[in-house]
Amino acid sequence: MCGIVGYLGKDNAKEIVLNGLKRLEYRGYDSAGMSLFDESSHKFVNFKEKGRIKILEESLTLDHSSMGIGHTRWATHGRVNRENAHPHTSEDGRFTIVHNGVIDNHNKLKKLYFENHTFKSETDTEVICELIALYAQKMPSTDAIRKVLKMLHGSYALLVIDHDDPNTLYAAKFKSPLLIGKSDNGMVIGSDMMALVGTADNYLALDDETFLRVTKNNFTLYDLDGEVLPYQMSPLDIDDFSSEKGEFDHYMLKEIHEQPAVLRRIISKYFNDTTIHIDDEIINTIKSHDRIHILAAGTSMHAGLIGKGLLESFSNIPTEVHIASEFAYQQPLLGEKPFFILISQSGETADLRACLVNLKKAQHKVLTITNVRTSTLAREADFALELHAGPEIAVASTKAYTAQIAVLSILAYALSNQSFDLKRELSETAQAMEHFLDKYEVMEKFAKDYLQKPNCFYIGRGSDYYVGLEAALKLKEISYIQTEGFAAGELKHGTIALIEEGTPVIAIISNDKTAENTRSNLSEVKSRGAKTLTITFESLKENGDEIVLDNINPSLSPLLTVIPTQLIAYYAALHRGHDIDKPRNLAKSVTVE
Ligand code: M6R
Repeated sequence: MCGIVGYLGKDNAKEIVLNGLKRLEYRGYDSAGMSLFDESSHKFVNFKEKGRIKILEESLTLDHSSMGIGHTRWATHGRVNRENAHPHTSEDGRFTIVHNGVIDNHNKLKKLYFENHTFKSETDTEVICELIALYAQKMPSTDAIRKVLKMLHGSYALLVIDHDDPNTLYAAKFKSPLLIGKSDNGMVIGSDMMALVGTADNYLALDDETFLRVTKNNFTLYDLDGEVLPYQMSPLDIDDFSSEKGEFDHYMLKEIHEQPAVLRRIISKYFNDTTIHIDDEIINTIKSHDRIHILAAGTSMHAGLIGKGLLESFSNIPTEVHIASEFAYQQPLLGEKPFFILISQSGETADLRACLVNLKKAQHKVLTITNVRTSTLAREADFALELHAGPEIAVASTKAYTAQIAVLSILAYALSNQSFDLKRELSETAQAMEHFLDKYEVMEKFAKDYLQKPNCFYIGRGSDYYVGLEAALKLKEISYIQTEGFAAGELKHGTIALIEEGTPVIAIISNDKTAENTRSNLSEVKSRGAKTLTITFESLKENGDEIVLDNINPSLSPLLTVIPTQLIAYYAALHRGHDIDKPRNLAKSVTVE
């Protein structure tokens, strides 16, 4: 969702902030803005526009600046328009701010402090700016900002400019992520590591309720009472190349094609020869519990469903999967010794954070599996395992999903007494992925010829059903075709009523025990006019099957069966002319509940 970038230093703030905002585009936004210091007039100038960053870029009249802040807004309070876009400047013109998060008590604060004031925007942010300006009339700006921070209920990542001091930038964080990066040339602040890439050599991910005073070559970290806090920065080692599109037309296509490499990277990170490289403390702690609860949202929840199967079949530990937004407020009855696994590509999903707060209060042990090691969920859980998938830019998650399944399979294996060679099986899966990725024409043709109807169905049994849920989510989120994943046996209990001439139905068949049953369900829909497509394996193929994958270890089949479905979604969206990497209404990182 919203993104923040700020820069102060010897380099051109305009370029750095603009490039940073572009790198955050993938998170989803509907308007963008910047405030830049104009050295000739010695004043800050605000630029903001509704729509894409390109429009903002065209409106910028300054070529160079030593300091600037920028923001991409994903509307929560107030319409999508120029007035509501950030930055916001106080009525007296002294303070300018950008804000990520939600201020729950903004109406109350407006009533209490500004009864007769007309706000320029409908946002929950503007009141923060006015409050800082109000208190700064009576005290130094650092004290004024800290005082206001203590009055806010909700979440914030905040950058504040005091126009009276253009050599200093202030920043603060509570619940919404914020990182500061440092190089010899200056200081960069961003809400996402991607905003720091290429500008900073070292970074620090801020903790909640911390406050920064930043100058061109240094910064001081404080708590909200003004006490100076110690910190240690870490090297920033995401390479620049990995966040570029390269030869591909879309990030989604690039990320689909990266999956074999991601799988190999996971193997290299988690295996030492054939021994698994996961901290003993994690394994022993899980083993001392009697039930695992996986919490996640969207695609990550679908990976969790596959993970349940792996954990139960490899290691015999009963495992349940919960939708995070449900678990946060409808916590089911838990057994004696529950252990929790949070799965989140971004590590910032607000629904999961709400769960984590409750779990920590109840002193439960929590492991986060995430792609972002500096993320809130990784830092706040007892343990973390990294996905090593590299930056995932497309909103539609692909390589993070397969990485989640791979890491869960390694964890399940580490908890088990299994003796097969998982490392080899995963390598063979990477090879099979690679082999299949060359054969995209079938999916392209199916998407073009058959996905003309407003709806579509995926059917399967067991893990194929779970892959069907993920496949349906992928297709609906980027092609806007109403798609459902069904347990194949359930179809005839109601949903088959929707099948008519030309309805596309895609079957996933990876299990020899249920293959025949799913094929019967496929015949049932075919005889009612459905256009069908079968995704299966060499060992199970029958005449006429359209997509036949190389045989791999059946427990790992979801890693492979999902790939044709990702490509079907990609080509369906392509033929419909949609914005594949930034589908409508969606954000990459869902930081509001
Ligand atoms: O960052 P997370 O894995 O916690 O995100 C959860 C969902 O928002 C996410 O998986 C979403 O469903 C995907 N963008 C779908 O492709």
